[in-house]
Amino acid sequence: MEKTVTVSAPVNIALIKYWGKRNDKLLLPLNDSLSITLAQDDLRTVTTIQASPDFPTTCLWLNGREEDVSSPRLQNIISGIRNFVKEKCGENIPGIFGWHLHIVSTNNFPTKAGLASSASGYASLTFALAKLYGLDEENLSVIARTGSGSACRSLEGGFVLWNMGKKEDGSDSSSVQLFSHTHWEDLRVFLVVISSSQKSVGSSQGMLRCRETSGLLRQRLLSVGGRKEDLIEAIKRKNFEQFAKLVMQDSNEMHAVCLDSYPPLMYMNDASHAVCQIVHEYNSAIGQTVVAYTFDAGPNPCLMMQESISSDFMGLLEYFSGVMKNGTWKGIPVSRKYPSDELL
Ligand code: DP6
Repeated sequence: MEKTVTVSAPVNIALIKYWGKRNDKLLLPLNDSLSITLAQDDLRTVTTIQASPDFPTTCLWLNGREEDVSSPRLQNIISGIRNFVKEKCGENIPGIFGWHLHIVSTNNFPTKAGLASSASGYASLTFALAKLYGLDEENLSVIARTGSGSACRSLEGGFVLWNMGKKEDGSDSSSVQLFSHTHWEDLRVFLVVISSSQKSVGSSQGMLRCRETSGLLRQRLLSVGGRKEDLIEAIKRKNFEQFAKLVMQDSNEMHAVCLDSYPPLMYMNDASHAVCQIVHEYNSAIGQTVVAYTFDAGPNPCLMMQESISSDFMGLLEYFSGVMKNGTWKGIPVSRKYPSDELL
């Protein structure tokens, strides 16, 4: 009698960072952000939901550990999807609607280490619930956003823009695909895991502290829109030099804002800075910008380059920096349309 669905959703990496909210409950950002979605083979969240009339309560297991289902963000997603279903079905609400759920979600990468686990997690939860209740895929990003802001960008493949929107209720704060994964086929992303321990101040807390204490954040908001436009143009023209400069500047600006907050937030560590230095030295030795880095709220660099130079640069990084302890790395291409229910 029960119904089960399984889906997966990918990680996305912000090129123009979402850093600061104008509404903490609805997770509405202070600026537009832009990301690339990564192919799912290596990094993804898989979520299975079973609905049954026999379950006495709704439960959630994240990476094998039971979590509190009353958390406001989880409830945002569940109630968001249920409101959609109610709007769509009117009087004819399906019987399954009254059943409790068992939700099992697993990441195949370190959770909360600055590797955007909340993005793929809430995106896959949103997509799984939509599938369970037979909802169409459209407009799901406004719901995923209420679990974790960056999750709204994991519902599209390729290069994705999250429009901050203007409305107070957040109904226009959603994501759109700008360019598909085929647009820039030889672009590769490398995630270098310097540390897989959990960050001490999570993104939400960090953003709040920056909004309350950083004057630099106010300055950033005056110019980040222009940088986003320039980056869209660079991606459109596949101008790596311009792309790399804008991406690195945006990451550095976000971390400068973090340092400007009080008490200051230091997400990057010495090894992160060493990687930045190697990237700049390599670019200047080549006489051209061929490698870019970006860092989310953690010490782990995300490196971008074209396939053709990746073995040269990654080999060098391995040799000089000592940050890649196990010495393995793999370039991840930009993903096609995801999330997906075609798992393997
Ligand atoms: C640095 O989406 O994790 O990765 O909305 O509070 O859940 P909440 O924050 P979250 O923040 C992501 C911040 C970032 C930049 C980005 O992904 O744009």
